[in-house]
Amino acid sequence: MQSMIIANGEVKDEIILRGAAALRAGAMAADVAEQVARDVEDDADDHSVGFSGKPNILGQVECDACFMVGATRKAGAVAALRGFRHPISVARQVMQRTPHVLLAGEGAMRFAAEIGAERRNMLSIEARALWHGRLREIGLTDAQIHDLECGHPPADVIGLANAAMNWRDGTDTMNVMVRDTAGRLCVAVTTSGISWKYPGRVGDSPIVGAGLYADDRFGAAACMGLGEVTIRLGTSLKLVSLMQGGLSMNEAGRIVTREMAEMLAPSGSTRTHVDWVRIIAIDRAGTPAAFATSQGRFIKVQGADDLEPRLIEAEYVPA
Ligand code: GLY
Repeated sequence: MQSMIIANGEVKDEIILRGAAALRAGAMAADVAEQVARDVEDDADDHSVGFSGKPNILGQVECDACFMVGATRKAGAVAALRGFRHPISVARQVMQRTPHVLLAGEGAMRFAAEIGAERRNMLSIEARALWHGRLREIGLTDAQIHDLECGHPPADVIGLANAAMNWRDGTDTMNVMVRDTAGRLCVAVTTSGISWKYPGRVGDSPIVGAGLYADDRFGAAACMGLGEVTIRLGTSLKLVSLMQGGLSMNEAGRIVTREMAEMLAPSGSTRTHVDWVRIIAIDRAGTPAAFATSQGRFIKVQGADDLEPRLIEAEYVPA
């Protein structure tokens, strides 16, 4: 059976190639998906995931991650996790060590500490500078920024976050979908979420059915972009359910993407947030696909026979 790695276009080739080598050597989809996600979490050039992710409005890097196995439909997730190097591994351990699916905030951090997950200051010098830059752009003085850093935010943090979030800074997410030679599917999603978000904001990435879904019998899907849309629509599960109902992956992908585009279109999403969503998908035969509500969005696909990842443009589906 053809093994396959599908990831966002932003994921570096060397990370995907390392995963592909492990797959060729017989590694299971779940182990490869976790490894690829961990490598991206360590990538300081990626400001939307793990270390060096852009922080929330108070300067805290809050990470969401989820891990889902298609054979069992078991999943584990963490939300608003701070101070741990590999949110995806904590998410996998939630699946393996607890009867729960999602741990959030203080509980997620307690759990991570209890299992001995590696701690890390996730705010890089570069991400901190980007945060300061954005605060200055919206009119904060150096003294006000200093107060924020010292844990003395203004009373109106809602206003501050709403002013700071904008569609250009947006949100990326690391989605990786792996199919191994036994046909097992695993999806790993990890992100620091929307830049300059309100503290405690949780996106779609740790929400099974919204940010991701995997079922070996039918296929898998995972989303990136504005999580508030895919949470409201249950996008990933809907795509897989439409395939379960007999639609092809392309038919299902176009339906759910159009639905998201329609939700985004009337208001222009207020333009305070990123205003696009992209889905990656795979069907049970191992065929990859991608759909997006805006043009110029890419994914990378690495099949067993490919020498290097292929860059594929997501099909643009307007409202
Ligand atoms: N899709 C990632 C997020 O909304 O945080």
